[in-house]
Amino acid sequence: MKGKVCVFGSFNLDVVAVMNRFPLPGESLTAHNSMMGPGGKGANQATAALRAGARVHYIGKVGNDDFGTFARRHLEKTGFDAITLFTCKEKPTGNALIYVAGDDAENMISVYPGANTTVTAAEVARCQPTVAAADILLVQLENNLSAIQRMIDNARAGGTFVILNPAPWQKVSDALLAKVDLLTPNSTEAMQLSGIKVTDFASAQRAAEVLHRKGARQVIITLGTAGALLSSAEQQLRIPLFPAQPLDTTGAGDAFNGALAARLASGDALPQAALFAAAFASLCVERSGAANSMPSYAEALARMQAHPECAVTPLNAPEITHMA
Ligand code: RIB
Repeated sequence: MKGKVCVFGSFNLDVVAVMNRFPLPGESLTAHNSMMGPGGKGANQATAALRAGARVHYIGKVGNDDFGTFARRHLEKTGFDAITLFTCKEKPTGNALIYVAGDDAENMISVYPGANTTVTAAEVARCQPTVAAADILLVQLENNLSAIQRMIDNARAGGTFVILNPAPWQKVSDALLAKVDLLTPNSTEAMQLSGIKVTDFASAQRAAEVLHRKGARQVIITLGTAGALLSSAEQQLRIPLFPAQPLDTTGAGDAFNGALAARLASGDALPQAALFAAAFASLCVERSGAANSMPSYAEALARMQAHPECAVTPLNAPEITHMA
């Protein structure tokens, strides 16, 4: 692999309110900080991949509005190798309203995906050479499923490795899961995909087994403060959580996925790439914002070197149960 990552995914304008606690239904609360900035899982993951050392081509779609102009200006100065940004005349640029609250800087997000869900078959076809030229295609579920499926089909036809981060969750077929080389749900998405409640490593292993049976060859389930499970036919490994002082957890999953793609594209083995991605994400949560909170490759490497105790460790194979 030569380090080329193509990210197809959403761009959103994020409006963030930092609170002491989340408001209750019907309650108005004063925020003690607020900001507006670039977000969207696709753009965040593309930025993470870039900062983690990859050459990145970002593909997205925005509205014909002020937020779309903001997106184009922001993306053009980010440092991507190339950008393909389509414009939708009917729907506005996606936006997200984000609350960040509490000592652990947890977040609550509502997304209006707008133009992100209007990517046409003709637009996907125009991206085919880009997808085939990449080492890795990284996609999420914040666009219309028809376009995501076509991008994945094009990647497979071109021999490009596919990572699907199934966030935010929408129902996907087993046939689609079988086309993906690496699936990266969080514990909630793993439960939605597998039907198994994921609360710890043991339940994550059982969920991963179900996902393997559905066709996903390699799975990483992120488990919040517990770290992550890496599961394939050959191995079940625990990816540790690096110590961090959380300020804003928004984009932590995006940091993990983008960095993972970057390291895999540069030739790292999956466990090493996942360990790097965990260190990278631990730095992201110490900064506020989403796309603008991604650390650098050097910073993530320094965090890994500062914590030699954070290593990948094997887990016992799960007990296989028969599913109805
Ligand atoms: O993963 C964080 C992102 O989710 C935010 O930037 C927001 O736009 C939503 O897409």
